[in-house]
Amino acid sequence: MAKTAANVVSGADGEVRPRHVAIIMDGNGRWAKNRGWPRLVGHRRGAERVKEIVRACPSLGVNWLTVYAFSTENWKRSTEEVLGLMGIFARYIEREADGMAAEGVRLRFIGARERLDKKLQDLMAGIEARTAGNSRLNLTVAINYGGRDELTRAATRLAARLARGEISHATEADLADCLDTAGHPDPDLVIRTSGETRTSNFLPFQATYSEYEFTETLWPDFTPDRLAEILDRFGMRDRRFGGA
Ligand code: IPE
Ligand code: IPE
Ligand code: MG
Repeated sequence: MAKTAANVVSGADGEVRPRHVAIIMDGNGRWAKNRGWPRLVGHRRGAERVKEIVRACPSLGVNWLTVYAFSTENWKRSTEEVLGLMGIFARYIEREADGMAAEGVRLRFIGARERLDKKLQDLMAGIEARTAGNSRLNLTVAINYGGRDELTRAATRLAARLARGEISHATEADLADCLDTAGHPDPDLVIRTSGETRTSNFLPFQATYSEYEFTETLWPDFTPDRLAEILDRFGMRDRRFGGA
């Protein structure tokens, strides 16, 4: 768990850049509805945007990118939409695997996997293993992720470590080590698209000192240029981490 300004890096131009950007990709459904199209068309376009943002990150100085793709609450949606989304995730991994491996992307997933289709779980484990040696961009995709669910699973692991006597008392770092994000730096900046100003169960432990940026842009309209503008503004923020 790293949560100090040490997370923030300076770009080649000397500008302060967030090292870790996390994105709540919202607004796919409204983007499609505005055009009279099925929601899944919006999700497909959203997946195309993820590819573009992933490609843009290294040149923007972003070394860690975490994207919220499916929450523990999203199972409430229609079977058609849920299955359609799961198909999009599987195709994304299959089609992007070679490119990500070649471009130095390390892909990882957070969230509870057991509830996902076995074939999707296998694809996820396969691409994680295949890209484990990469470090140009650390891409984390949150699927069936909920912060409360993650904290509950982490608390269970932590209790087991205490019971086994591996640790005598629990520290913040011990709990962080039990999260799905163990070893990941905390996000410096969390972006939510589509005008909603809530976190919807995303990274409650990790984002306590993140800066937040809310934009009206719907996710399928979110381009690398929009990201670059937001990153430029980040450099003007004064992050105090509780200090004077
Ligand atoms: C975000 O877009 C994608 C997921 C949550 C899976 P939405 O599907 O939530 O789009 P809106 O909010 O209905 O427009
Ligand atoms: C949050 O978006 C989850 C993802 C982006 C995957 P939602 O659209 O599900 O969130 P709410 O329901 O508006 O809070
Ligand atoms: Mg939404």
